[in-house]
Amino acid sequence: METTVRDAVRKAGGRDLRRVVYSSEQIAERVKEMGREITDHYPGDGSLLVLGLLKGSFIFLADLVRAIQLPLEVDFLVASSYGDGRVSSGTVELVYDPETPIEGRHVLLVEDIIDSGNTLERVIPLLKGRDPASLEVCALLHKRVVKEDPEIRWVGFDAPAEFLVGYGLDDAGDLRHLPFIASI
Ligand code: IMP
Ligand code: MG
Repeated sequence: METTVRDAVRKAGGRDLRRVVYSSEQIAERVKEMGREITDHYPGDGSLLVLGLLKGSFIFLADLVRAIQLPLEVDFLVASSYGDGRVSSGTVELVYDPETPIEGRHVLLVEDIIDSGNTLERVIPLLKGRDPASLEVCALLHKRVVKEDPEIRWVGFDAPAEFLVGYGLDDAGDLRHLPFIASI
C-alpha cells in the first residue's frame, strides 16, 4: 500500500518535499526488472558478490538482492564524499573496506546515485586491483552530469538535476526512510 501523504509529512518532520520524483510502485517495478537482467547476466555458480556502497544503497540493495534469482553473497563498502553538504566534496574517503575476499569473484557494486562520479572513480580502481573475475556497477539513479562515464552496466533511472531524498538517499542524514524518492 502506498504511504499516505500524512505519513510522508510525519517522516519528513513537517519539512517541505517539493515533489515525488519516483513513487514506491515505480521503484519496485524497475528494481524487479533490474533483478531479472542481473539474474540473466551471471552464472549461478555462487561466484556473485553483491557489494553495496553504504549508506545510501542499503534500501535499494535490500530490494535488489531479493529480485536476483541466483546464489550470491552480500558485503558492504563505506565511502564518504558529501559530508553534510549537498555538493560533492571531491574527496572520497573509504571508511569501511569489505572483509570478503574478492579475487576471482563476480563483483556487482551497488550504488544509490551517481552524481559527480568521484566515488566510483576512487572505488572502481581499488576493487579492480584486487583481481575480481568481473566488476560491474548497478546504480539506481544517474544524474548524467559526468562526461566521462565509467562503465555502468545497469541504471534504474536517469535522475533530474535536483537534490533527491528517500529510499536510502539522505539530506545530512535525514529522510532516508521515505519509501519513495522526492526532491527537496
Ligand atoms: P558522486 O561521488 O558525486 O558521484 O556522488 C555519489 C554519492 O553522493 C551518492 O552515493 C550519494 O550518497 C550522494 N548523492 C549524490 N546526489 C545525491 C542526491 O541528490 N541526494 C542525496 N545524495 C546524493
Ligand atoms: Mg549520501
